[in-house]
Amino acid sequence: MPPAIPRNLKDSFTSVDNYICDSLVPQDEGLISALKANAAADLDEIDVAPNQGKLLHLLAKMNNVKRYLEVGTLGGYSAIWVAKALPADGKIITLEIDPMHATVATSNFATAGFSKTIEVKVGPALESLAKMDEEGVEEPFDMVFIDADKQNNLGYFRYALKFARKGTLIIVDNVVRQGRVADWENLDPAVTGVTILAFLSMPYSLSGLISLSIAGEVVQVYLLNSSEFLKIWSQGVGIRILVETR
Ligand SMILES: C[S@@+](CC[C@H](N)C(=O)[O-])C[C@H]1O[C@@H](n2cnc3c(N)ncnc32)[C@H](O)[C@@H]1O
Repeated sequence: MPPAIPRNLKDSFTSVDNYICDSLVPQDEGLISALKANAAADLDEIDVAPNQGKLLHLLAKMNNVKRYLEVGTLGGYSAIWVAKALPADGKIITLEIDPMHATVATSNFATAGFSKTIEVKVGPALESLAKMDEEGVEEPFDMVFIDADKQNNLGYFRYALKFARKGTLIIVDNVVRQGRVADWENLDPAVTGVTILAFLSMPYSLSGLISLSIAGEVVQVYLLNSSEFLKIWSQGVGIRILVETR
C-alpha cells in the first residue's frame, strides 16, 4: 500500500523530494564523498538538494555550457554537479568568502577528479568579481549560479550580466525566502536583495523567465537575449538601475 500523503505541506514537499531523489537522482562517488567531507568538517547543510544539483547539471548540458561561474561555493557540491556536465575543456570559477569552506571544496574537487576544471577564488565575492572585471574575463560565462549572501544579489547579478553573452543562463537560488518576498513591507536585506531582482527580471521575462518550484523553493532562470541598454525604474525599492547586456 502506498504511504499516506502527509497533511502538512512541508512534509509533502519533503516526501516528494525524497521520492524524486531516491528514484531519479543517483549520485556518484564524487558527490557522495563531498557530502560526507562537508559533514565531517561541520559545514552547514545548505548545499542544493540532489534534485536541484541534477537540475543545474541538466541545464548546463542542455545549453552546452562550457564556462560556469558560481557565487557561493560551500563544500563544492553544486559545482561538482555542474562540472559533471561540462566538456573536457570546460571551466568553472566559484567564489567563496570562508577560507575553511574553500579548503573543503578544493579537496572535494580533487576527490571528484575536477581539480583542473574548477578554480575557487577566496574572499568576498564582490571583491573577487571586481578583480576579475579589472583583469578582464577572457570569454563570457555560459551559466551563472548565484547562491551566497542575498543582500548582495543585485551586485552579483550586475556582474553576471557584465560577464554574460546573449543566451547566458543566470540562476538565482532561494528566491522565495519562506514566502517573505510577497511582503512588500519587509525591508530585511535578505528579502529586498531578492525583490530587486524580481524587478530586474521583468524585461527578460518577455524573452523567457522560467520559474521552477522544487521542494517549496523556487529556482528562477533568466534567459538573456537583449543587446540593448535597459533602464529600469524600480519604484518599489526606490533605486535606479542601469543594466547593460551584450
Ligand atoms: C548556500 S551556500 C552555497 C552552497 C553551494 N552553492 C552548494 O549548493 O553546494 C552559500 C555560501 O556562500 C558563502 N558566502 C556568503 N557570503 C559570501 C560573500 N559575500 N562572498 C562569497 N561567498 C559568500 C558562504 O560562506 C557559503 O559557503
